[in-house]
Amino acid sequence: MSESKKVLLYVSHLKKYFPISSNLLKSGGSVRALDDVSFALREGETLGVVGETGCGKTTLGRTVLRLIDATAGDVYFNLPEDLMNKVIEKEGELDRLHEIENPSAEEIKEMETLEADLDEIRNENSLTRMSSRKMKDFRKFMQPIFQDPFSSLDPRKLVKDVIAEPMKLLTEMSSDEIFEKEKELIEEIGLSEDHLYRFPHEFSGGQRQRIGIARAIGIGPKLLVLDEPTSALDVSVQAQILNMLKEIQNELGLSYLFISHHLNVIRLMADRVAVMYLGRVAELTDTDRLFTEMLHPYTKALLSAIPSIDPGKRKGRIILEGEIPSPANPPKGCYFHPRCPEAMKNCGWSPRDIAGPIRSMLEPYRNPEAKDFPAITEIVTDEEANSLDIVLSAPVPNREPVLALFNELVEKEASSGAGIMFKSIESVKFLEDGTTIRVVQMEPDVPTLKEVRKGHFVSCLLYDKPIEETKEEVMENASTATSTD
Ligand SMILES: Nc1ncnc2c1ncn2[C@@H]1O[C@H](COP(=O)(O)OP(=O)(O)OP(=O)(O)O)[C@@H](O)[C@H]1O
Ligand code: SF4
Ligand SMILES: [Mg+2]
Repeated sequence: MSESKKVLLYVSHLKKYFPISSNLLKSGGSVRALDDVSFALREGETLGVVGETGCGKTTLGRTVLRLIDATAGDVYFNLPEDLMNKVIEKEGELDRLHEIENPSAEEIKEMETLEADLDEIRNENSLTRMSSRKMKDFRKFMQPIFQDPFSSLDPRKLVKDVIAEPMKLLTEMSSDEIFEKEKELIEEIGLSEDHLYRFPHEFSGGQRQRIGIARAIGIGPKLLVLDEPTSALDVSVQAQILNMLKEIQNELGLSYLFISHHLNVIRLMADRVAVMYLGRVAELTDTDRLFTEMLHPYTKALLSAIPSIDPGKRKGRIILEGEIPSPANPPKGCYFHPRCPEAMKNCGWSPRDIAGPIRSMLEPYRNPEAKDFPAITEIVTDEEANSLDIVLSAPVPNREPVLALFNELVEKEASSGAGIMFKSIESVKFLEDGTTIRVVQMEPDVPTLKEVRKGHFVSCLLYDKPIEETKEEVMENASTATSTD
C-alpha cells in the first residue's frame, strides 16, 4: 500500500472500559476491552485485526463506528487531507513529548500548547466527541458487516427492506432511486431481482452475507468494518465471499478494517495487520513482514500455530503457559508478561505473580531446602507498593541467617527456567516487629507501541531501541521516499 495514499481513518489512544455492575459494591471496576489503541488506515487499504477471543477486536470495530461510545481517545475519519495530516503530526509530536522521562520546562510548555491546539481540533472533528446529529454526516461513509448480518434485523422484513434501510436512514435518496440502486446491488452480489422479495431465512449463510454486503455498500461508504464476516461460513463459501469483498474493494476504492481470528483469512485479505492482546496492539506492520519477520513474542506464539508449507522454515509451535488474564484485572507492566517466553525482570512482575511461587518456595514439604525457614502465618500483598510481607508465626531472634537463607532460595529459583519473576526482587528486609519480612519488587516498565523500523510497530521492551536497518532496507526506503516525493 503506497504511503502517498490519503489517510482515511486515524485512531488515537482509543479506550473502551465497560463498567462491571456489582450488587455488593457501588463500583465494580471495569473491563478494559480497549486500552489505548492507535493506528492509521489509508484509502483503499485493508488493516487486519487479529488476536485471541476477548482481546477487544469487536469492541474496536464498534467503537470506531461509534455504535458504542469510547471511554477516551479520538477517531478521526474522512477529514480534508490537510487537516488529517495536521492531526497526525500534532498527535505524533505529543506522543513523542509524552515519552520523555523528565521533560524540561520548555517541553512541558510545548505539550500544553499542543494539547490546547489538539483539543480544539478534537472537539470539532473526533467522532468520539461529536453530537449524534453531526455524526450522521460521517455515518454514511462507514458501514459495518457482521458475522451474521441478520441476527440483529427483523426476520419479517423482506430483503428489499433490509438493503434499503441504510439508504433510507442516511441519504436523501428517493424511493425510486433506492429501488433502482437495489436492483443494481442485487446483481452485483450475484443474486437476481426476484430475491429482493424473499425473506432472509430463505437464503443460505453465504447468500445472507452477500445481502449484508449489498446493504453496506448501498450508501456509497468509504470504510467497511468487517467483523468476522466469513467465520460462520463453510470454507468454500468463505473463499467466494472473500473474493467478492476484494473485487468490491478494488472497484470502489474502499478501506477495510478487517477483524478475524483466522490468521489465514487475515493473510489473504490484509495489507497490514494489527495483532491485539488484552485490549492493546502488540504489533502492527505489513502483512508479509508480520508473517515472516514478526518481532513480538505474542505474535511469534500466535503464528507458530500455523503449519508452514516450507519445511525449511518449519519451527516448533510455541505453547503459551497460563490463561489469558482478565481484562477486568490486567497484569502490571506488559499485559503479556505472565505468559511471555521472553519476559525480562522489568516486564511487569508484581506481588500477584510472585506470592504463590514464594509460598511454594518456602514450604518445606515441597522444597526441602527451606526446612530451616521459620513457620509462616500469611503472605500479604500490596500491589500498589509492589511489595509483599511474609508474616512469620513468631519473632525471630537472629534475623541475618533467615534473610541469608531467603536470598539463597530466591537466587536458586531465579536461575531456574521459569525464575525470571524472582529477578524482579529488589530488596528483602525485616520490619521492626521482627516477624515480618518485606520483599520489594522493582517498579515495572510499561511498553508502548513504537516504530522500531520503518512501518513496523511493536509494543515490547525488547525493542525499546530502533532496530538497525539492513543495507537493503536502507536502499529500499530511500528509493520509496524518492518515488513518493
Ligand atoms: N457490553 C459489554 N459489557 C461488558 N464487557 C464487554 C462487553 N462487550 C465486550 N466485553 C468484554 O470486553 C472484552 C473484549 O470483548 P470483544 O468482544 O471486543 O473481544 P473479541 O476480540 O471480539 O472476541 P471474539 O474473538 O470472541 O469475538 C471481553 O473481555 C468481553 O467480555
Ligand atoms: S515487554 Fe516484551 S519481553 Fe517483556 S513480557 Fe512483554 S512481550 Fe515479553
Ligand atoms: Mg468479536
